[in-house]
Amino acid sequence: MKAAVMGYGTIGSGVVEILMENRDQVAKAAGEEIEVKYILDLRDFPDSPVADRIVHDFKQIEEDEEIRLVVETMGGLNPAYPFVKACLMAGKHVATSNKALVAAYGTELLAIAREKNVNFFFEASVGGGIPIIRPLYRCLRGERIEEITGILNGTTNYILTKMEREGAAFEAVLREAQNLGYAERNPEADVEGHDTCRKIAILTAMATGRQVDFEEIYTEGITSITDTDFQYAKKMGTSIKLFGTSRMFEDGRVSAYVAPVMVGGGHPLYPVSDVFNGILVKGNMVGDTMFYGSGAGKLPTASAVVADLIEAVQNRDRNIPIGWTKEKQEIMPMEQNTFRYFLRLAGSHRNKEGDVRKAFGPVEVEELYGMDEFAVLTGPMKEGAFKAACAAYEAMEAQKGEYGIKQTIRALL
Ligand code: HSE
Repeated sequence: MKAAVMGYGTIGSGVVEILMENRDQVAKAAGEEIEVKYILDLRDFPDSPVADRIVHDFKQIEEDEEIRLVVETMGGLNPAYPFVKACLMAGKHVATSNKALVAAYGTELLAIAREKNVNFFFEASVGGGIPIIRPLYRCLRGERIEEITGILNGTTNYILTKMEREGAAFEAVLREAQNLGYAERNPEADVEGHDTCRKIAILTAMATGRQVDFEEIYTEGITSITDTDFQYAKKMGTSIKLFGTSRMFEDGRVSAYVAPVMVGGGHPLYPVSDVFNGILVKGNMVGDTMFYGSGAGKLPTASAVVADLIEAVQNRDRNIPIGWTKEKQEIMPMEQNTFRYFLRLAGSHRNKEGDVRKAFGPVEVEELYGMDEFAVLTGPMKEGAFKAACAAYEAMEAQKGEYGIKQTIRALL
């Protein structure tokens, strides 16, 4: 089978490397060899062993009937979207690592693939090298999925881990992650939670079988998390992780959000550190399942793309019914979710105890030595009620001419 790779960056070059390195293994699994005929990129790679396969004109791929497999590792929406659409329309299977593309246009691209009797695969778009898309449409097919909670972004997990263990500065760790090839071209997508948002949108659509608009998912990144938060977390035996979560209730309601969350040592995702991702999937029959591995980086992500290519070769003449339809899945407002809340408050607990109780009810208190602040952990509250409590507390403190809330982090403790 002849393949074309669109985008010879970190992932695309990884795909070519694996197809060469594991040539026999791939051929055995697929039933025949997969040969890369074209590599589409804006750049030339004159010193590379694949220099002769580099092309700059997409039409060469689109119009070559010999090309039955296309890898899209360009990232972004333009021109990834028109190119992928054209490949599917031309009856070519497509495997992509591009979560932005799948989250924004997956509904349409899946429909075209069905109509053209080819496959649009995207295992690498979530969790890098971790098998998660395929388990959802194969191994867990008989389950009603109740919850998916994931640490879905390697870059932010790497940053949070370094902040926690080494007290490292945010910017320096981000640069390290970029140098290691983990980060998005625009790292804002990582640190502001947008990358996780697209991934949890894809997983939620897989679990519900319906289209999920990622814009409707409440999204908060890690830029407000500080070393002081981690000092408290350490004292409390907790950690702070960026979660993408969705809950599918039996009555059809679905809640989904992306936010930094404080978790205790007993949470299955607590030990997931560094660039690793972890995804907890709860099924109504199987209970908890955990998927763990390298969530970013060249070869892990490319490995998932290669697995998609193998499945496409194995199913060259039929569409595997995966994904979701254009029926829309509503997402519940964030205000309706329940958490405990970790707050850092200015001043001393002794002076503020009454106001805290008035606003938040009974709380657990935590103090660090020598700080003009203290922390509390509320009981479980609906987000809407918590916001109202925060406003009430701020008003009480403002009236006394004092500072109020320094930090709030949702907690699952
Ligand atoms: N920037 C992403 C991450 C790459 O750090 O997880 C993998 O999607």
